[in-house]
Amino acid sequence: MKPELHINIDHVATVRNARMGPEPNLIEAIKNIEKTCAAGITTHLREDRRHIKDADIKEIEAYLKNSRLGFTFEMGATEEIRAICLATSAKLATLVPEKREELTTEGGLDVLSQKAFLAEFIKPIQANSTQVSIFVDPDLDQIQASKDIAADFIEIHTGTYANHFIANNEEGLAQEIQRIKKAASFAQSLGLKVNLGHGLTSLNLPRLLAQLEDIQELHIGHSIIANAVLCGLENSIEAFH
Ligand code: PXP
Repeated sequence: MKPELHINIDHVATVRNARMGPEPNLIEAIKNIEKTCAAGITTHLREDRRHIKDADIKEIEAYLKNSRLGFTFEMGATEEIRAICLATSAKLATLVPEKREELTTEGGLDVLSQKAFLAEFIKPIQANSTQVSIFVDPDLDQIQASKDIAADFIEIHTGTYANHFIANNEEGLAQEIQRIKKAASFAQSLGLKVNLGHGLTSLNLPRLLAQLEDIQELHIGHSIIANAVLCGLENSIEAFH
C-alpha cells in the first residue's frame, strides 16, 4: 500500500504574509492540490500565527467540506488552539511541540513527561470525530507513551534522516533508517497507525520508504512549496507576454 500524500500549505501563507495581501490565495492553492494525487491538506495554526491565521482555518474548513481532500490540523497542546480545532471537522489532529523562537518544529513531542495531561487533552478531540496523531521522534518510550494516552496515530519525525541526507552522511543515514524502521514496527505492533513527516523531499523519500511497511500518510510542506516556486517561474513570467 502506497502512503497517502498530505500537503502542508503553511508556506503558501508565509509568502502571502510577506505582503500582507491576498496572494497567493490559499483556496486557489488547495484547488491546484485537488487536481493531483494528494489526499489531504495540512496546516499548523501556530500560537504566534506566523503563517496560517485564524481566518484561514475558517476558509479552508468551509472549502474542504465539499472536497475529497482530508484536513489535518497540526497543533500545540493548548486550550486556545484546541477550541479552534474543535470547531473544525478535521480528519486528524497532530499534536506537536511548539516553541515561539524555533524556525520550524524541531523535535518530537515529549509525551512521557506529560502523559496524564495529554491523555485528558485529546479526549474532546477524539469525541469530536477527529483522530489524534502524536508527532514523535523515533523513540520507543515516546511511542509507548503515545499508545498509553490512547492516541490513534504517531507521526515519526524524519528531520534527522533529512539532515543526514543533505550532509551525505551515509553512516548517519543507515543508522536513522534503522531507528525509524524499528520505531514504525513497534508502533504498528501496538496498534498505532504510522505517518511520517518533516524534511521529506522527492529525493530523500524513496530510500526511506523502501525500508518501511504500512506507512499511512506522508505530511510534506517545505520541499513541495519550494519546488513549486521553481516549477512555476516560467509560466509566471510568460503571463506578461
Ligand atoms: N509534520 C509535522 C508534524 C510538522 O510539524 C511539519 C513542519 O511544519 C511537517 C510535517 C512538514 O515538514 P516540512 O515542511 O519540512 O515538509
